[in-house]
Amino acid sequence: MSIQVRDQVFSLTTNDSLYQMKVDQYGILNHTWYGPNTEMDMSYIEDYPEISFSANLWDTEKSRMYSLNDRLLEYPCGGISDFREPALLLRVPDGSSSLDLRYYSYEILEGKYSIEKLPASFDRDHKTQTLKITLKDTVYDIFVDLLYGIFEEENVITRSVTIRNMTPFEIQVKKAVSASLDLPESDYEVIHFHGRHAMERLAERTSLSHGTFSIGSRRGQSSHQHNPGIILAKNNTNETSGEAYGMLLVYSGGFEADIEKDQLDQIRATIGLRSENFRWQLKPCEHFCGPEAILSYSEKGLGVLSNQYHDFIRSHLIRSSFVHQKRPILINNWEATYFDFNGEKLLSIAKSAHELGIELFVLDDGWFGERHNDDSSLGDWFVNEKKLQMPLRQLVEKIHALGMQFGLWIEPEMVSENSKLYRDHPNWVLRSPLRDPARSRYQLVLDMANPEVVDYLEQVFTKLIEENEIDYIKWDMNRSISDFYAPSLSPKTQSEMAHRYMLGVYDLADRLTSRFENILFEGCAGGGGRFDAGMLYYFPQYWCSDDTDAHNRCFIQHGTSFFYPISATGSHVSAIPNHQTGRNTSLYTRGIVAMAGTFGYELDLSELSPKEKEEVKEQIKVYKSMQELVLEGDYYRLSDPNQQNVSAWSFVSKDKKKIIVQAVVFEHKPNMKKPHVFLQGLDENRWYRRKEDGHLFTGKALMKAGLFLPDQLGTDEACMIELEQIDSKNREAQ
Ligand code: GLA
Repeated sequence: MSIQVRDQVFSLTTNDSLYQMKVDQYGILNHTWYGPNTEMDMSYIEDYPEISFSANLWDTEKSRMYSLNDRLLEYPCGGISDFREPALLLRVPDGSSSLDLRYYSYEILEGKYSIEKLPASFDRDHKTQTLKITLKDTVYDIFVDLLYGIFEEENVITRSVTIRNMTPFEIQVKKAVSASLDLPESDYEVIHFHGRHAMERLAERTSLSHGTFSIGSRRGQSSHQHNPGIILAKNNTNETSGEAYGMLLVYSGGFEADIEKDQLDQIRATIGLRSENFRWQLKPCEHFCGPEAILSYSEKGLGVLSNQYHDFIRSHLIRSSFVHQKRPILINNWEATYFDFNGEKLLSIAKSAHELGIELFVLDDGWFGERHNDDSSLGDWFVNEKKLQMPLRQLVEKIHALGMQFGLWIEPEMVSENSKLYRDHPNWVLRSPLRDPARSRYQLVLDMANPEVVDYLEQVFTKLIEENEIDYIKWDMNRSISDFYAPSLSPKTQSEMAHRYMLGVYDLADRLTSRFENILFEGCAGGGGRFDAGMLYYFPQYWCSDDTDAHNRCFIQHGTSFFYPISATGSHVSAIPNHQTGRNTSLYTRGIVAMAGTFGYELDLSELSPKEKEEVKEQIKVYKSMQELVLEGDYYRLSDPNQQNVSAWSFVSKDKKKIIVQAVVFEHKPNMKKPHVFLQGLDENRWYRRKEDGHLFTGKALMKAGLFLPDQLGTDEACMIELEQIDSKNREAQ
């Protein structure tokens, strides 16, 4: 049983963790533990001396021994003497913002809860249980349901919150985080993923000082700048040992994550919707559901934590049936042509791709309206037959006749000023009534909070897909939201706009991906600007970054791998000098780096020499032979590119029999010791054979003494080493 309730202690157990809460003598729900399974009531760790000048709850009468300000709380509220970051802030009509939530009831439900209108994890095997704990305010009929999904084998606890207004008046939700986690110690560092366009999700590890460390996005998208996930790692935690907690938000809009170190050196970490300018109106009997947060704990280092997230996201979050299927190797024309193409050019790229073994041709931006550069036509999703020299349907047929699939780029949420859509519906754009909106990449944002807009887009894209037999869609979103004002909403509800925008996007994604289950969708937002767990629910893969430079990709893909599965990470070989950085790397290196993802090409293949074409054929063969490992295997980071001269990673099959190590050496330095990496996740008592020369190693040797990389690797040169486990009989025969 993953949920046990005894003496008002709620214990949620997974294979390797215990999450525990306890209702105390005042009815306050304490968070007593999250960590290894200690198999006991952990409330003894909340044993505080009198802390002078802390406020004491009214019910404690004259005792000064109980203060909410030092206790570990499950879902803390502001205004009743906990002075740390609150999880929940409301406002009632008398103007008061305080809330005093006490335990009310609990329920254990079979199966995993779902969340209205929002993406959330699921359990198709019905092994999961849900715990619902209801808290109620002491004065008002305001109820808060805390929902927990317990995924035992996956070592995951999911959380979500519903606020129910049962008062006779309207209230406002000002803040409602998805998860708040109080920890009794403070020797943690936080790992977070920051960046910018074309340089997303760079891992940064920083120690905590007293006060609040805060990340987030106020861009209406999860953003290139900060990804909605944090890891708390003990100071001595590394890839292979030590404790770490992950908190990942299943949301694609503005968010905030705060980690506070308090006066007693305790930690409070919260993650949820962005609360700045947020006010959700709740009429009597209405409720508000927050997005889900996925929590996971590992005692065995960051590698195990990441694999827990990868497995969970693949099995319980990505709902597309493509998730476990081999993906077609694709060629995308963006970096090959940008806007400068016609039908003939596209067909010639497709033909040379097909000859090399590529299976899917993707037509990127520029096929519609009068879109010859990025300042017009978004919204006019009508095929420019003059440019294509033929109807789209005919181009698709020609590609299909080659034996390839056909994919198309769209950017549903946006509109150009120079477009018919904008001229017809100027009121469908986010903008405040008396102010001109900010342009970004010359484009404006559609009011996705308006159901009329969502209906229109559904109808336009349904028609486009059905009429043209499309096999793949790249759904892009190329700007942040700056003007948070939706003409479709009343002035009073403008502070709901950011979340309503996301609900509209999810609604459209839901309608299109449900209707077209056989189409492979890839998400994109100026590269990886919305690469998050919310989007992965609908799209099984996501374009990782607009930076296709193999060197930079080592850093971007390293950061991405902490939470997100490699099988969801779009990665392509592009031309040199690289269009973003001007760097030259060998075709081999570009191939190896792109293989750590959903593999494809993004260059004019007809410009390759015969030798390079042979190399591309070989890369495709290699990738196909390892695709199973990328889709289903474990992934380990074998180096930290921020600290070392090498970026290395490995794929290990679940049965630990097949291993692929890939690495890029950043700088060749003369007379240096051969770089070597310590493998992870092997069976230490078994023997492994290096494929290229038959050399035998024990698993223990590979993990404890390491494996040398070839010493002739030049600057930005890559290598790939394959190993396989042999059985002991074979070993004796050697
Ligand atoms: C974004 C995407 C690119 C490409 C362009 C097209 O930048 O990330 O891959 O599709 O848009 O405009």
